[in-house]
Amino acid sequence: MTPGAPSPERGVWVSRWGFVLAAAGSAVGLGNIWRFPYIVGENGGGAFVLVYLLCIVFLGLPILVAELGMGRSVQRTPVGAFQLLAGRRSAWVGLGWLGVAVGFLLLSFYSVVAGWMLRYAFLAVSGALSRGGVAEVQQTFGTIAGDGAGSVAGALVFIGLNVAMVGAGIQRGVERWSRILMPALLVLLLGLIGYATTLDGFAVGVAFLFRFDLGALDRGGLLEALGHAFFTLSVGLGGMLTYGSYLPGRSGVVENAVAIVLLDTVVAMLSCLLVFPLAFTFGLPPSEGPGLIFVSLPMAFAQMPAGGFVGAVFFVLLICAALTSGLSMLELAASYFIDERGWTRRQAVTRVGGIIAVLALPCALTGSTEVFGSGFEALVGRSYFDFLVDLVTNWLTPLGGLGFALFVGWRLGPGVRRGQFDEGAPEAVYRGWLAVLRFLAPPAIVLIFLRGIGLL
Ligand code: PHE
Repeated sequence: MTPGAPSPERGVWVSRWGFVLAAAGSAVGLGNIWRFPYIVGENGGGAFVLVYLLCIVFLGLPILVAELGMGRSVQRTPVGAFQLLAGRRSAWVGLGWLGVAVGFLLLSFYSVVAGWMLRYAFLAVSGALSRGGVAEVQQTFGTIAGDGAGSVAGALVFIGLNVAMVGAGIQRGVERWSRILMPALLVLLLGLIGYATTLDGFAVGVAFLFRFDLGALDRGGLLEALGHAFFTLSVGLGGMLTYGSYLPGRSGVVENAVAIVLLDTVVAMLSCLLVFPLAFTFGLPPSEGPGLIFVSLPMAFAQMPAGGFVGAVFFVLLICAALTSGLSMLELAASYFIDERGWTRRQAVTRVGGIIAVLALPCALTGSTEVFGSGFEALVGRSYFDFLVDLVTNWLTPLGGLGFALFVGWRLGPGVRRGQFDEGAPEAVYRGWLAVLRFLAPPAIVLIFLRGIGLL
């Protein structure tokens, strides 16, 4: 396919609202509800949250605007967009490739965690989640994560759902679902927080979230805050560029980006407001790690009236939130083959889905086989699963974000850049945004990287 001739297989959003919901659906996912609370816990609470929020506002948001604007203006997916703007042979095209490649990796571990949620939904219905004390519930998580066949099956179901939905095309696949699921999730979170306010640990949990102890933040914490800020906004890899490319030509991006960031941040903070009070009430250490929500929430479900039902609804909604994120990862990887290789949507999603299913195997088997668990750990210092999550979220995603800031800030011609930015937005906003992309984001990201590898 030649640049400039969009594939007839590509989609267009039905409405602006539908786009915002789908993009927010991409942003709000396991990152907000599963990962954010446990990394806040591991990094000592409030100080980490503050650094994270700064990264969201000063780095994530401007780069989100850059991605959305770039996608909307060229109506291509990452590889094609860089080819069109920088030249077919330009090294910048590598940034597009990075995004497509990471799209595969992202979904490979994401689907494993979503698969665990699936098992939890069933356990909640059967009542098996609400038996015993903290030790038993902790053990349940260990058993689920350590069950290789079950983890593989869960991941495959999740990947299959993604393939079916992305195969149905952009409007029917993504937009319709996001419209229903996001509000439902918000309502349930608020309801559960309402319950948490009645518990003994509420005040301590909230205090932990807002206490400002800079000492608790080590060098890894800074990198983790940065990486997670990009990861949670789905920014840096071209996923948002892809979604932006389905926007009709003249729609504004700044307002949309602000809405997405606000929603994402609200959900992340709400899940902390839920998880920490529960953790402190039931005597779980906040540094429990990836099992934090898998243990703290079931403890609460065990105590509340109709807890089995509430638990099942909670995990189902969480799977849905994961789905709307997974869809955008699959869309990111598959849309390259639709746009640039002329595959049909169905061919692209089934083949890409197949490869992702294979890539998910080592993640799913981390808890049950030595090769990917302790064997890998002996070699690399951590299990394959942990290694991959760290690589993708802390290194590759911010690296992509750095690339976008440099490309849009420095490489694009002024006329092109202004055209990509919101026409409706005031000139001062444009200037501020450009200054951030040029002078703040690149050095900040590089410094945090250097600190992350211990050079600073
Ligand atoms: N933002 C998603 C989350 O928080 C993860 C994601 C990253 C989705 C990159 C798409 C692309 O769970």
